[in-house]
Amino acid sequence: MKKAIIFGITGQDGSHLADLLLEKGYEVVGVTRRVSIDTTSRIKHLLDQENLKLESGDITDAHSVINILKDHQDAAEVYNLAAQSHVAVSFKQPALTWDITGKGCLNILQAMVDLGMKNSRFYQASSSEMFGKNYDVEVGMTSESKFQDENTKFMPQSPYAIAKCAAHYMTRLYREGYDLHASAGILFNHEGPRRGENFVTRKITKWIGDFIKWCNVNGVKPADLINDTDEVYVNGRKDRSQGLQFPKLRLGNLDAYRDWGYAGDYCEAMWTMLQQESPDDYVICTGETHTVREFLTIVFNSVGLDEWKHLVVVDPEFYRPAEVDYLRGDCSKAKQKLGWTPKHTFEDLAKMMVMSDLS
Ligand code: NAP
Ligand code: GDD
Repeated sequence: MKKAIIFGITGQDGSHLADLLLEKGYEVVGVTRRVSIDTTSRIKHLLDQENLKLESGDITDAHSVINILKDHQDAAEVYNLAAQSHVAVSFKQPALTWDITGKGCLNILQAMVDLGMKNSRFYQASSSEMFGKNYDVEVGMTSESKFQDENTKFMPQSPYAIAKCAAHYMTRLYREGYDLHASAGILFNHEGPRRGENFVTRKITKWIGDFIKWCNVNGVKPADLINDTDEVYVNGRKDRSQGLQFPKLRLGNLDAYRDWGYAGDYCEAMWTMLQQESPDDYVICTGETHTVREFLTIVFNSVGLDEWKHLVVVDPEFYRPAEVDYLRGDCSKAKQKLGWTPKHTFEDLAKMMVMSDLS
């Protein structure tokens, strides 16, 4: 039976990857860090599987990384999905982000070399955020289109992206310098019902789910709602000390473009990369780009609301010191070499997340 180690198994991607590998008959070792509350909610459905083993560890602690790898040197595959993965948080906690998202990767790679794990394959979760401000331009007969692929230069715009670039280059160095089978997936934004609640897509679908439930419980119709700056409240109950109130959805930059796909599809790409004879780097994306505004429109329309402007507040608190304005990937290489294509569209994704948050 093949064994795989997942650093970051409690995260969105870690949980999807664990599903996939267990389905494929792997023995899965998941690394979880000790925190004061239970973080296993995304893998709750897997906890009684005998092929899943959880090990306690932290990728910032080189000792814990080497001890875990020493106990599982027979692992065929090692996936590094662990990160402080929130871009806005990385501006507030840059050093912590560096230690986890940048140096954590080095701790795993060096431990693999020190332990002589020549037969184990390594996956690094690289990010489209590394492209930052940069894109290439394809000039057609009548139009131009902007895109990023494996050859686009990185111009990172956040402490998170800089840490990811360091880890990405480190992965390439260990591949070339130590002959490690180390691949990096440059994944564009991917989402789903398991997405953390403070990423923009999930923040929106979670809010709409809570709002619709509140309307249903209180017998409120959108036509009954009165707006003020911060809340919506219900016609005939303007006394806010007693009236029915619901906080508006507060967001930052609505004009950012992202290439959003479904996390489950992207985890299949990670696994497929490690099945290749030679390690390499691959862009994984849908090739489509949409603004936060477009996501809002699909989500609100999907619950029968034509308009979202009176329910959303643009709050500068959610602006970032530096922004990534435009991401749209070109995954021709993954299509050709891995035979991978995304299965879910942007609309499928938004609707899947809304359905989940309504239930
Ligand atoms: P996520 O939901 O934030 O999960 C991050 C995981 O890392 C969690 O399991 C977390 O554990 C773990 N972790 C954090 N600090 C750790 C530490 N010091 N030691 C060990 N584990 C630690 O992220 P995701 O969306 O699944 O993304 C997975 C990876 O892909 C990340 O590296 C992310 O940066 C990268 N990525 C994501 C996207 C995307 O759109 N989702 C795109 C490109 C790249 P806790 O549960 O204890 O917090
Ligand atoms: N989080 C958040 N919250 N973002 C907001 C908000 C808000 O209230 N309002 C607007 N945005 C904008 C952000 O400024 C950004 O331009 C866009 O929505 C997407 O933000 P996030 O969902 O936080 O994702 P991200 O693109 O910054 O980073 C994600 O994707 C990267 C891959 O490109 C994360 O998953 C990273 O870990 C990943 O590497």
